[in-house]
Amino acid sequence: MKSQGNTKRKPEQVWVAVEHYIDGLLMPADPILGAALEDSAEAGLPDIAVTPGQGKLLYLMAKMQGARKILEIGTLGGYSTIWLGRALPADGLLVTLEAEREHFEVARKNLARAGLAKVVDQRLGEALETLPELAEEGGGPFDFVFIDADKESSLEYFEWALRLSRPGAAILVDNVIRDGDVADPETEDPRVQGIRRLNEALAREPRVSATTIQTVGSKGYDGFTLILVVG
Ligand code: SAH
Ligand code: DHB
Ligand code: MG
Repeated sequence: MKSQGNTKRKPEQVWVAVEHYIDGLLMPADPILGAALEDSAEAGLPDIAVTPGQGKLLYLMAKMQGARKILEIGTLGGYSTIWLGRALPADGLLVTLEAEREHFEVARKNLARAGLAKVVDQRLGEALETLPELAEEGGGPFDFVFIDADKESSLEYFEWALRLSRPGAAILVDNVIRDGDVADPETEDPRVQGIRRLNEALAREPRVSATTIQTVGSKGYDGFTLILVVG
């Protein structure tokens, strides 16, 4: 059948078709990442990991930073952790924080299979408890931070990330658009309110420079906020 272009398809279908087209070319099938997603699904984890293309974006950003120390808040089954871990040199370190024991255990197996057990330090517990512990131990300073846990606490996670980062570090925050709800000042969704509080703090924080990139695809209409620590 001759292609009808995109005129007969819903925007959501077009987004997913484009994602599959690009990811099919630039992210060849990877048995380790595939198995990580399969085992996560098998264990009943929610299907909310970043997409392959987004995982590659994390990998490329960490590489661009020359990151040797990475902090991730929100491990889930370790899918994004694998992408980030692969950006590290052999003597690098990735600290990843997760509150759910089941997620933590699934990630442990996925990271071991990916050959990353040595560079990844998994911490089980509420991030607002493990972050102060990390600071007390003298953890960091981190070159790259990925914030991807409960959105209600995004501002607090940003504050910890800033405290634990070196000047020049990059902080990336996932799920900052939420179908456009972020632009609604009347929103009653505490997750969206959390992102709005973060945005207001970013607007008045002189130590950072930030922007937000809207994204579409198989995970819907959402986005990333990229924050550079300039001071
Ligand atoms: N970064 C993952 C997805 C993370 S999903 C990926 O892209 O592959 C969000 C994760 O944050 C879930 O596993 C959830 O259990 C965890 N989480 C939620 N609240 C948390 C908290 N207070 N502290 C630590 N982790 C939390
Ligand atoms: C959801 C998606 C995410 O990427 C995440 O980190 C947390 C939740 C969601 O769609 O509910
Ligand atoms: Mg996310």
